[in-house]
Amino acid sequence: MTKELNIGIVGLGTVGSGVIKSIEKNRSYFKNNYNVEFNILGISANSKNKERSFNVSNYKWFDNPLDIISENNIDTVIELIGGEDGLAYDLAINSLKNDKNFITANKALISKHGEELSILTEKHKNFFGFEASVAGGIPIIKTLKESLILNEIRKIYAILNGTSNYILSNMGKLNISFDVALKDAQDKGYAESDPTLDINGEDSAHKLSILNSIIFSEIPSFKSIHIRGIENIDLIDHHYSSEFGYNIRLIALSQITDNGVYKEVTPMLVDKDSSLGRVDEANNIIKIIGQESGDVVLEGQGAGEGPTSSSVISDLIDCATGSKLYLFSKSHSELSNSTDKISSEERAYYLRFFLKDQKGSMSNLTKLLSDSNISLDKIIQKDENNNNNKDNFKPVIMITYPVKKDEIDSLIDILSSSDIVSSVPLHMPILVKG
Ligand SMILES: NC(=O)c1ccc[n+]([C@@H]2O[C@H](COP(=O)([O-])OP(=O)(O)OC[C@H]3O[C@@H](n4cnc5c(N)ncnc54)[C@H](OP(=O)(O)O)[C@@H]3O)[C@@H](O)[C@H]2O)c1
Repeated sequence: MTKELNIGIVGLGTVGSGVIKSIEKNRSYFKNNYNVEFNILGISANSKNKERSFNVSNYKWFDNPLDIISENNIDTVIELIGGEDGLAYDLAINSLKNDKNFITANKALISKHGEELSILTEKHKNFFGFEASVAGGIPIIKTLKESLILNEIRKIYAILNGTSNYILSNMGKLNISFDVALKDAQDKGYAESDPTLDINGEDSAHKLSILNSIIFSEIPSFKSIHIRGIENIDLIDHHYSSEFGYNIRLIALSQITDNGVYKEVTPMLVDKDSSLGRVDEANNIIKIIGQESGDVVLEGQGAGEGPTSSSVISDLIDCATGSKLYLFSKSHSELSNSTDKISSEERAYYLRFFLKDQKGSMSNLTKLLSDSNISLDKIIQKDENNNNNKDNFKPVIMITYPVKKDEIDSLIDILSSSDIVSSVPLHMPILVKG
């Protein structure tokens, strides 16, 4: 017998419109291959009269999106608005409480309210799909929940934000400033008009917290992730990283240590020829190191109408075919609180700062390094003017031998308060075997 899903869709922007067009176009494919029919019984967004890429008049319009939940015939609500609270949260909670299936692409919502959503989903036995919330078209949630089972995952590192990857890869490749690369990303529709969460690392952290919940059975929490963004990276950092054989990428990383699970989102230097170092433009990549599976790498488009709506459709098929998995692999009662850990791992670091061009500065610097137990693998001191060089400060770039995170943090504090450098030094770890 054909399984029918009666759907209400809230949010008709890039992803919502893509989902509707895909359902319209593939009706016979869904019927022939999965024996399912998707009936769109309601749609809603901010403005009914806005021009859209599908015919709005083919569907019943709801002025109040929450009224979709009260429509008895609708069994599945798809939220494609965004935002961690407000309407998206109300839609999720009320849909679940009213025994509707719920599908979303909203990472901020799941990252903040994952525990409550997990409890409600189990209580009401609904389907909850969120494949599109992490890495757009890459099927990472399904891979983790259904394919890499019985597999102890020790480490995951990833590029999860297309906007920041577009900015970083183009700064290096096209020799353009951060502001020019950001404007280009906005013109091409990769970056939001307010790109703050992309650039400051929070969007990547939302997504990482969701992956952590599935892999490490943690209640999603973005507060336990050490986060640094890409806003302080200058064109000269790309030049010098490249001279050393690296590209700069915003890396999201979680790893089991003796101490617990260490989690971080930070710009890193990555070998140019490594799988993460090669990822260009707005693409995403996820590398999973499993005890049994070995290295598994998934790469593809992390955003856009086609990739993201295809992940929503994949959730719809799972919903229709009766998938009954827990939200995060395990029951909410088996999830533990996510706690902040300090990494005891030693890593090499890239350091860049502007050193006062006066006699004795270099020997003072050498003494500070030696007092902090930091040894240098490479150092470049440039006799060039720079925008930041107003008071006769010249750029110094160093690669350290591996040190612990707290040792480098303490050196940065010391240098920041010293009058031999002009501003807070930039530091980025170097990713080995990216
Ligand atoms: N775009 C991507 O590539 C991508 C990738 C992965 C995940 N996502 C996630 O998918 C979700 C949707 O993203 P999007 O890019 O499709 O966003 P979008 O293009 O900005 O569309 C947002 C939609 O939500 C509607 N909306 C906003 N506030 C509303 C309100 N208060 N009441 C009713 N409708 C409201 C808007 O209505 P109007 O059209 O009338 O203005 C619009 O249709 C977000 O959670 C996003 O993080 C997006």
